[in-house]
Amino acid sequence: MKLQSKSETSGMLLELDFRAGNIDDIEAVFALNRTVFDEAWSKQAMLQSLQVGYDLFVCWHSETLVGYVLSQDILFEVQVMQISVAPTHRRQGIAKTLLNMLIQDKADYDVVMLEVRASNIAAQRFYESLGFSQVGKRPKYYSPTPTLAAEDAILFNFCPQVQSC
Ligand SMILES: CC(C)(COP(=O)(O)OP(=O)(O)OC[C@H]1O[C@@H](n2cnc3c(N)ncnc32)[C@H](O)[C@@H]1OP(=O)(O)O)[C@@H](O)C(=O)NCCC(=O)NCCS
Repeated sequence: MKLQSKSETSGMLLELDFRAGNIDDIEAVFALNRTVFDEAWSKQAMLQSLQVGYDLFVCWHSETLVGYVLSQDILFEVQVMQISVAPTHRRQGIAKTLLNMLIQDKADYDVVMLEVRASNIAAQRFYESLGFSQVGKRPKYYSPTPTLAAEDAILFNFCPQVQSC
C-alpha cells in the first residue's frame, strides 16, 4: 500500500510503502531495532521469530526502512512484540498505519495486547490515540539494564471485534 506523508522537517511529500514484511526485511528491521531500543533483539532472534510464524508489517521510504511492527499470535490473542518508527519519520502516522494494518489482519481475534514501559509516555499516548485501553500494570516487569533502572510495565488491550475493549 503506497501512502504519501508530509515530512515534518522539509515539508516535502514522502512516498511511503506499507506492506507485510518477510525475511528480506530482517536486516533492516534489525538495524532499526538497534537504533531505537536499549534491549535490542539479536538478528538470529528476529529471523527465528519469522520462522516460527510471527507477523511483520513494514514501512519503507525509498531504500530506507522507517517503521515496523512485529507480533505473535497466541491462540485467539495477538501480542505486539515490537513497534518502532525511525526518529526522523515520527508523527507522520506511520506507526498508526502499521498498527491498523495489524488490527485489520487480526479482525477475528479476541484481543491485541501489549506492554509498555511506565516511563514511555509517548508510546502510551500513541496506543490511547488508537483506542487501546490500559488494563493493568506489571510491577518491575523490565529488568534493570546498564542504562535503565527496573521498571513497571503498563498493559494495554484492544479488541478488534468491537474496535475497543
Ligand atoms: C511510539 C511510536 C511507535 C509512535 O510512532 P509514530 O509513527 O510517531 O506515531 P504516529 O505518527 O502514528 O502517531 C499517531 C498518534 O499517536 C499519538 N502520538 C504519537 N507520538 C506521540 C508523542 N510523542 N506524544 C504524544 N502523542 C503521540 C498522537 O495522537 C499521534 O497523532 P498526531 O500526530 O496526529 O497527534 C514512536 O514514537 C517510536 O518508535 N518510539 C520508540 C519505540 C517505542 O517506544 N515503541 C513502543 C514500545 S511499547
